[in-house]
Amino acid sequence: MNIKKFLTTELMAEAAGKHIIEIVKKKPDSLLCFAGGDTPLMTLNYLAEAAKQGEVDFGKCSFVSLDEWVGLGKETNGSCKQTLFDHFFDRIPNIDDSQICFFDGLAIDMDAECKRVDHFVAKHEGIDFMLLGIGMNGHIGFNEPGVRVDTYCHVIDLDPVTKKVSVKYFDEEMNVTRGISLGIQHITEAAEVMLMANGEKKADIVELTINTEPTADIPSTLVKNSKHAVLYIDDAAASKL
Ligand code: F6R
Repeated sequence: MNIKKFLTTELMAEAAGKHIIEIVKKKPDSLLCFAGGDTPLMTLNYLAEAAKQGEVDFGKCSFVSLDEWVGLGKETNGSCKQTLFDHFFDRIPNIDDSQICFFDGLAIDMDAECKRVDHFVAKHEGIDFMLLGIGMNGHIGFNEPGVRVDTYCHVIDLDPVTKKVSVKYFDEEMNVTRGISLGIQHITEAAEVMLMANGEKKADIVELTINTEPTADIPSTLVKNSKHAVLYIDDAAASKL
């Protein structure tokens, strides 16, 4: 796995944004996947501004969601859908809903939801680029510690650490217990995966991710099995290396 270290979070986000713009310029009809959560927000902002200035056109791209909390939809502040729409999709000129395939955390039939999203990815012949954050327990998307590595979309019980950390996203107590997520197979089959981490609180998991052989116990290590994986970290996240 390539590692790129940046002095500040801002420089990291700018470099990531520029890299994504290059990908879209090379392949305007790319299928892109961006994580929710805090980590990608600065990069998404960079991309939204670049799109507004006409530096990049996402008009031919398609987008697939990485994951969602089961039981939550766009109406809930802190859901993945709300995060991605507010910070990215609703700010991008020239894209409409037909280009976006997002997990519906409120769907009654979660198996059908998994099949729908699997089908969307398969129809596009796989994902061209994924931007992933790293959970405090090493999860990527909602591929939690101990996840099966041969899965595509699936519903999973959330790890205790994920449930504990989840409170930071929500205005009120949500008691989330399950997540729906793209699988490790999607990640290892993607043409390129960018794993991103910033801040001192991620320093331990970044160190573990880099220095541990790929194992389902620390899902972020499995990114090393991807065709083309790169880790973007700022100085604080790299402080235990
Ligand atoms: C969010 C997601 C999660 C986060 C991870 C890090 O869609 O897939 O895996 O990327 O939990 O979260 P933050 O970025 O909030 O530290």
